[in-house]
Amino acid sequence: MINKSAVFDIDKIRSDFPVLSCTVYGKKLVYFDNGATTQKPKQVINAITEAYSKYYSNIHRGVHALSDISSEKYESARERIRSFINASAKEEIVFTSGTTASINLVAFSFGERYISQGDEVLISELEHHANIVPWQMMCERKDAHLRVIPVNDDGTLHLEDLDHLITEKTKIVAVSQVSNALGVIVPVKEIIEKAHEKNIPVLVDGAQGIQHGHVDVRKLDCDFYVFSGHKVYGPTGIGVLYGKREWLEEMPPCQGGGDMVERVTFEKTTYNELPFKFEAGTVNFVGAIGLATALEYIEATGMDNIVRQEADLKVYADERIKATGGIRVYGNTQNKISIISFLIDKIHPYDAGLILDKMGIAVRTGSHCAQPIMARFGIDGTIRASLCFYNTREEIDILIAGIEKVKSMML
Ligand code: ALA
Repeated sequence: MINKSAVFDIDKIRSDFPVLSCTVYGKKLVYFDNGATTQKPKQVINAITEAYSKYYSNIHRGVHALSDISSEKYESARERIRSFINASAKEEIVFTSGTTASINLVAFSFGERYISQGDEVLISELEHHANIVPWQMMCERKDAHLRVIPVNDDGTLHLEDLDHLITEKTKIVAVSQVSNALGVIVPVKEIIEKAHEKNIPVLVDGAQGIQHGHVDVRKLDCDFYVFSGHKVYGPTGIGVLYGKREWLEEMPPCQGGGDMVERVTFEKTTYNELPFKFEAGTVNFVGAIGLATALEYIEATGMDNIVRQEADLKVYADERIKATGGIRVYGNTQNKISIISFLIDKIHPYDAGLILDKMGIAVRTGSHCAQPIMARFGIDGTIRASLCFYNTREEIDILIAGIEKVKSMML
């Protein structure tokens, strides 16, 4: 349920996030590293504290009261995630440790079931390593081939190549919804439609998408959608794999252990039903409860409000950063989220990052776990300011002063 009428009160919102009132080197923290991980509202912190202090016990394993409460909260969390992304059924929501684990799960299990020698997997040039390496590993195991959709100079995908890159050998397409390194939005709906014309499933890496706009997996019609809790204001160590039931039913589990089984004998093991087949061992159920609380927080804030605030910040940051002069923006397109990836003249991004840090400004510098897209632009890395709805124009002004300081020290 989206709360369209929620009032967007930035002071109130900022007061919900304890870390935002920290100081760093005696300076007010300006946190522009939300692409790496987002801060947590006190509602999420309180939910985790409550779980550990009031009803903590293992799930699905006991008949005692605390185990019942934990199990009920965990399964309610699954329902919350289902409704947030509008999946058809709770059985299609698998909890993992994060996006990386979710992609590795699909690469392994889908690969075991559907990939043979000579088959192809299609990804894009702007993927995070987490959406490259698991597929490469699977291709090596199966003697299959990785194909890559190239990127244009502005960081958008060269979709004209899609028709000839999707061949009769393509078995799966895996693309980011939003590039973590550049902030560019990928037209995943268009890619899904093209792939489905040839009955090829598509995995969407939503690690940088879920927190910036409405996601409806049924409208999108993706076959798999993955994301991490910690990038969407939830805890670390929890993530989600959404998969259409027909794929998940057919895929073998990639980990064996407790809870994923129906019956175990030394001769043979039969597996539990979905989604438990893919949840071996004690999962991070407190993390799942924290993630559900984070999604409730987003709904109470209003995704429309979040989108509006971030759009304003993006335009303001883009204009102001470019106006400082000597700036090269990578992913120089309007079709992006509130991530600005840039270089200042010939200054190394690490040098810039260190100076900005001393001013209390947290940005990420380097290749952003996306070396191939950096290589595409012939650079080692960028400075990445990744903004979200709790940031302000005043903080962008502080970044601009920081960039001027970097220039005055390094040029
Ligand atoms: N994937 C994270 C980032 O983009 C860590 O910074």
